[in-house]
Amino acid sequence: MDAQVTKQPLNWSELGFQYIKTDTRYRAVWRDGAWSLGELIGEENIAIHEGAPSIHYAQQCFEGMKAQTAPDGRILLFRPELNAERMRRTAQRLLMPDVPVEMFVDAVKRVVSANASWVPPYGSGASLYIRPMLIGVGENLGLKPAQSYEFRVFVSPVGPYYKQAGLGTISLAVSEMDRAAPRGTGSYKAGANYAGGLLATKQAQALGANEALYLDSREERFIDEAGSANIVIVMKDGSVATPKSEAILPSITRRSIMTLAEKKLGLTTVERQIELRKEIGDFAEAAACGTAAVLSPVGRIWFDDAWHQVGEGDVAGPVMHKLYDLLVGIQKGELADEFGWTVAVD
Ligand code: PLP
Ligand code: COI
Repeated sequence: MDAQVTKQPLNWSELGFQYIKTDTRYRAVWRDGAWSLGELIGEENIAIHEGAPSIHYAQQCFEGMKAQTAPDGRILLFRPELNAERMRRTAQRLLMPDVPVEMFVDAVKRVVSANASWVPPYGSGASLYIRPMLIGVGENLGLKPAQSYEFRVFVSPVGPYYKQAGLGTISLAVSEMDRAAPRGTGSYKAGANYAGGLLATKQAQALGANEALYLDSREERFIDEAGSANIVIVMKDGSVATPKSEAILPSITRRSIMTLAEKKLGLTTVERQIELRKEIGDFAEAAACGTAAVLSPVGRIWFDDAWHQVGEGDVAGPVMHKLYDLLVGIQKGELADEFGWTVAVD
């Protein structure tokens, strides 16, 4: 990747998490059992049949990834093959064709490379968000899988996902609605899970929270996840815990953070059920984690008609601080990539 590419005249450090149209996107079409040769195109609109199953029955899924500029100008992806595998798994659940891992990663690289001028420069604090998506596009009416599909990848430069309060913490409000049933689609990155969450997010924001926190829908006791991120907790005994649940998205950021906590900070890590009301008094630090969220410390949680402070409230705790620096340092190529997580786009 040419580090000398002339960047777009954007105010990178002021970016929020909004769509910005870039030059190029990738598109491939699946028809009669095979993928077309993928192509880079300029048009951002998609014209699909009015009967397409993606727009009636939510037969669609997506992924979220980021590209970052390293100090030496290289553009780095973070564990892209895990996103590819997660999309394959979701596609199988929704009876959609597999996008092979190599095709997925190649498409992502091609789009990022073609949009190099939109990749925020090193040190700007922004990154290039990558949105791969797979949608059922063919003509249909009855409840059955589409006959053709489009796999598309577009990108947009983004800044922080959450508006943080105080010295950098966010707040979450426990939703009275469920996000996912125990044996439903919660562990898949299906758009349908998010449509159902829009009202929960709105209600959480009306309470002054950044977003909704979901408890398990069977018993309403154990933490599942936030509307767009998993949860990680540093307990007062120094261990790092994360919810065990069949109904949450298997976050790539969370897997990476748990590895860093164990291997780099020498902490005990555990994936287990976490009972919010009973255990919140034992939380030293909590955070929401994900591609968009990165690692956002949580200062307070709303439930049972009251705010409950976590740790120091408005101030991010020391362990989350270290984990953030390790994670982002690797993602940006500032720290040695000892786990082999980054992939350069050339
Ligand atoms: N949970 C939900 C519901 C999400 O939308 C996301 C975002 O992708 C995550 C968790 C975090 O997953 P990842 O770390 O793979 O981005
Ligand atoms: C991501 O973090 O990539 C997501 O997909 C969350 C989305 C709701 C912005």
